[in-house]
Amino acid sequence: KKRIVVLISGSGSNLQAIIDACKAEKIDGDVVGVISNIADVFGLTRAENAGIANEVLSHKEFASREIYDQNLIKCIDAYQPDLVVLAGFMRILTPQFVQHYVGRLLNIHPSLLPKYQGLNTHQRAIDAGDKTHGVSVHFVTEELDGGPVILQAKVPIFDGDEASDLAARVHEQEHRIYPLVVNWFCQNRLTMSGNCAILDGKPLAENGYA
Ligand code: GAR
Repeated sequence: KKRIVVLISGSGSNLQAIIDACKAEKIDGDVVGVISNIADVFGLTRAENAGIANEVLSHKEFASREIYDQNLIKCIDAYQPDLVVLAGFMRILTPQFVQHYVGRLLNIHPSLLPKYQGLNTHQRAIDAGDKTHGVSVHFVTEELDGGPVILQAKVPIFDGDEASDLAARVHEQEHRIYPLVVNWFCQNRLTMSGNCAILDGKPLAENGYA
């Protein structure tokens, strides 16, 4: 079984989906540690309730992004993870951090990448008049929200939708596709090669649809 460390900054509903899938043996792995950069978030309670080691490493206690990330690496590596999963971890990572975990660092981003990198993705999709929105799971590279896409799911945007409606619709899909991708990795079926994600020996299409 693979050892998974999950990084969070908030509610941790994706963390919960991954914990539940591990418990149900839908993921060939275990979440062995949860680290948050923010204290008192609900995601930490979820880890605690599941009996999973959890800790806060606050970015506010470090002089620079580089020093924070160096300490974050130490903190993560103490769990000897095979895979590091970003689940609503709202920090920009240094190249040094990304290099350390290259090929075993996953992120979920609430848009159909390459559209809407960065923040406020739901509102931006609504403001643009898009009819379709969605979510992407990707390998993390040094390019912010730019690593190879592994899997995407689409949701419709209806007239009158507010960002919170759309966020809820996207979350449902997140909780479906993130455990699936994590399991592919844990089963040694998923790798990163150059700027491409490979599943079962075949490159995933650039737009991420398998
Ligand atoms: C998720 O919607 C995830 O896609 C997003 O944060 C939310 C976390 O929710 N991630 C980003 O915006 C990364 N830039 P959760 O804490 O309930 O899993």
